[in-house]
Amino acid sequence: MGIEDHLPEGFAMPNESSAFPSFWNHFWQNSVSPWDLGQPHPELVAQISSLGRPKRAYVPGCGRGHDAVFLSQAGWQVTAVDMAEHVSPHLNPQLGEDGSIFLLRDAFEVEENEVYELWWDHTFFCAIPPEKRPLWGRTVRRVLREGGVLGALVFPVGKDIAEGGPPFGMSVDNLLEVLGPGAHLVSDDPLSKPARDGGERFAIIRIDPLAEEAK
Ligand SMILES: C[S@@+](CC[C@H](N)C(=O)[O-])C[C@H]1O[C@@H](n2cnc3c(N)ncnc32)[C@H](O)[C@@H]1O
Repeated sequence: MGIEDHLPEGFAMPNESSAFPSFWNHFWQNSVSPWDLGQPHPELVAQISSLGRPKRAYVPGCGRGHDAVFLSQAGWQVTAVDMAEHVSPHLNPQLGEDGSIFLLRDAFEVEENEVYELWWDHTFFCAIPPEKRPLWGRTVRRVLREGGVLGALVFPVGKDIAEGGPPFGMSVDNLLEVLGPGAHLVSDDPLSKPARDGGERFAIIRIDPLAEEAK
């Protein structure tokens, strides 16, 4: 069952960015979160050591924040972000209590001084409209400008983008394309135990530091 099955009649993903929060709020307000696993993604748990030494981590579109809490417990200084205010009552109670930070904002509206070593992307890239993908790529490069790692749960793999979304079909090549030069694929593996129907992969992409003049 996709999230489209939970939309009121005639309600579709809006074209206007200003209407995105209300789109997502609809689900949280109605306690409908079919994407939520109720726990950190098992592949993140299994692969945590491959993401490198814990430093600063950004978790955009964090939803209830189970991954963010897990990363924090694993030693990462986590900033988790979601734009839907009605997610608040659903947040993992440990989020924000364990040293992690939760921010209610658009994940692309990063401050000038925000720098991270990890961008953990779990059903965020597939949740944004495809026309926002170049912005996603620029934001990743900007916040990982000192060099870092993109860890991505790639889902749904093999879904034609023309079928619409969210979730919009995605691939590791889609990520590399919008990240541009300076992004290097480290690994791209199918999951031994997929958590969802529809094809999942776990990818790690190393991001080179930006040249001084591009920062
Ligand atoms: C499909 S859910 C995934 C939640 C979580 N990552 C998970 O896997 O359980 C997408 C989440 O991203 C949030 N979201 C969508 N676009 C966003 C944006 N531009 N900035 C911040 N949050 C956003 C939504 O409010 C929603 O909670």
